Amino acid sequence: MTTTDQNRVYIFDTTLRDGEQSPGATMTHEEKLEIAEMLDDMGVDIIEAGFPIASEGDFRAVSEIAKRSKNARICGLARANFADIDRCAEAVKHAGLSRIHTFIGTSPLHRAIPNLTKDEMAEKIHETVTHARNLVENVQWSPMDATRTEWDYLCRVIEIAIKAGATTINIPDTVGYTAPVESADLIKRLIETVPGADEVVFATHCHNDLGMATANSLAAVAGGARQIECTINGLGERAGNTALEEVVMAMKTRNDIMPWRTEIDTTKIMAISRRVSTVSGFQVQPNKAIVGKNAFAHESGIHQDGMLKNKETFEIMRPEDVGLAGTSLPLGKHSGRAALRDKLDQMGYELADNQLKDLFVRFKDLADRKKEVFDDDLIALMRIGEDDA
Ligand code: KIV
Ligand code: ZN
Repeated sequence: MTTTDQNRVYIFDTTLRDGEQSPGATMTHEEKLEIAEMLDDMGVDIIEAGFPIASEGDFRAVSEIAKRSKNARICGLARANFADIDRCAEAVKHAGLSRIHTFIGTSPLHRAIPNLTKDEMAEKIHETVTHARNLVENVQWSPMDATRTEWDYLCRVIEIAIKAGATTINIPDTVGYTAPVESADLIKRLIETVPGADEVVFATHCHNDLGMATANSLAAVAGGARQIECTINGLGERAGNTALEEVVMAMKTRNDIMPWRTEIDTTKIMAISRRVSTVSGFQVQPNKAIVGKNAFAHESGIHQDGMLKNKETFEIMRPEDVGLAGTSLPLGKHSGRAALRDKLDQMGYELADNQLKDLFVRFKDLADRKKEVFDDDLIALMRIGEDDA
């Protein structure tokens, strides 16, 4: 492997599987095909398109996405039983590149549900991963709730999965319980300890219950993981999954300390964020990193003045790099004269200094009563000025 290859991080998007599991986020068949096409076009490496045994609709969506895929590997989810795995294999078989992702809950809490002993579960993992590998070349295995699984048992079951033919080992932080230092350390120690670990790709799959999914995912990469599982806008169960746009832009922006690369065309981020928001019905919060309405907007006078002089004063990313036309300087009660003049210039108005001074007084008066002052408001304020003259 070259140094560059060692720094390549694969992006595994699960918007259509874990994201859609979010209560109320169900998408139609056509919407899923559209999102899958956008993910493929933006350079996502692996698309987890659904859970084929879960419903006829999921099976149909995964099959159709597999048929239409161009560059991305298409993956389906399966529990640790032959019926799930067979159904999944049937759905992904149409893809140029396919993957079966099979999982079982390995923590004490999750082992108690099927009431399996450690040995019985270990045997099940061996049988199901072997079965999946007999059907496809590329198999991902996940010990669900890995971050709350006993260390010795986790090492033991990962070794079994690798020996049975798993090509990717995913370490899910199913309930968003881990913290960044722990996340890095866990992956690092697993890679150092488990026999055969250097032959497979380690993946990180984080949930955001404590708001640490992005940090935990990047820490896992620092520990040696080379696949990040994520969703657009962080859509997902409870507080959601790691947001694709956040990890990708973090690696791009701070490549000096996170020297990893993805193949994502970041200029396609805004378009897919908006589309996922529309089809899922989940609005993006205005102050959401990267894709929120305010992520590249500056209202206060000091910030607007700085931005008009040098964009690097208050922006660490270029809005164009995420697919926005540019920075926005909305006018509100915190805005200053420089931003007002800039806005009028953009609207094609040239005002003498004394006219600007008068308008600024009327503008501040209005801004005190209104959340945002729009172009039409400014036109109205200028008319009042003309009438007064
Ligand atoms: O969060 C989780 O553990 C999952 C598994 C199915 C990988 O989504
Ligand atoms: Zn998950």
